[in-house]
Amino acid sequence: MDYEERITAAELGEGEYRQEVNLRPQKLDEYIGQKGATDNLKVFIEAAKLRNEPLDHVLFYGPPGLGKTTLAGIIANEMGVDIRITSGPAIERAGDLAAILTNLNENDVLFIDEIHRLNRSVEEVLYSAMEDFALDIIIGKGPSARSIRLDIARFTLIGATTRAGSLSAPLRDRFGVNCKFEMYDRDELALIIQRTADILGVKTDESSIKEMARRSRGTPRIANRLLKRVRDFSQVKGDGNINIDITKEALKALGVDDMGLENLDREILRMIIDRFGGGPVGIDTIAASIGEERVTIEDVYEPYLIQAGFLHRTQKGRVVSKKAYEHLGIEYSDEEEKEREEQISISISD
Ligand code: ADE
Repeated sequence: MDYEERITAAELGEGEYRQEVNLRPQKLDEYIGQKGATDNLKVFIEAAKLRNEPLDHVLFYGPPGLGKTTLAGIIANEMGVDIRITSGPAIERAGDLAAILTNLNENDVLFIDEIHRLNRSVEEVLYSAMEDFALDIIIGKGPSARSIRLDIARFTLIGATTRAGSLSAPLRDRFGVNCKFEMYDRDELALIIQRTADILGVKTDESSIKEMARRSRGTPRIANRLLKRVRDFSQVKGDGNINIDITKEALKALGVDDMGLENLDREILRMIIDRFGGGPVGIDTIAASIGEERVTIEDVYEPYLIQAGFLHRTQKGRVVSKKAYEHLGIEYSDEEEKEREEQISISISD
């Protein structure tokens, strides 16, 4: 199955964007979680408004589905300005970016998702735009070519990336504010599910919400998607209200297990156990063995497997934890345990 079609895919599926927009909080006070980032942003936004200046450029980084676009929209809302949303791969040429930048109004927000995928020539246009609010345009070709500087509106760039390490240093240095997005804990996810259920007008109970929260891989986008699918089951197979039986039945039918793992997650863990004795094994070997790209494993599967304590990243490669063996119902050999524990302790003390 295409990883983007999984029920637990953190990326947005086709047609989901419009639906998601209706569920998105509009104000900082409605935004649940990421307290470290939002508390600071509240101060920076207020200060920028007092000075009647644009907010400094902001970089959001962390796994997909954690609410980066949502928070960018909220920032624009709180600043009382418009937001223009685009992505690194969508801006193919320098001229595309110049067209976007010259259409911004004073203090507007430009949101560039997947900013690490901007190509070099586009990125270079961004440097002077971010620093001096100016575009350097080359007119003509060859010896008669000359450069003119065009002023643009003072704006805020919000860049989002799943991999801060892939950003070039000159681009990274031009962001005044850095926000790392963390996975959500179960209480936060439960609040998000309750909020969405209220907006959708569907009745739920506490145990169902807890169950969905537990299986949402720390990701609001997945939590909201599970809620919608459970609602479908409750309407077709029940009385329209969500209860724990319907919730469990729906999640089972969707192939999402107790811990929010899907087939491919379990396949990765099982493959490392069967073929590599539980690890350590290199990421490229894992990718080749299950036929996925390395970046997909690193950005999509691994973050949750690591956060949930099923997988450890060590200097020698990935190691499956005892918890994963137990979860999969595979016997954990004590002989190999010492070796693995050593690997894990190396990774923890790094
Ligand atoms: N919906 C999706 N993400 C959310 C969040 N962080 N807070 C509130 N509602 C959300």
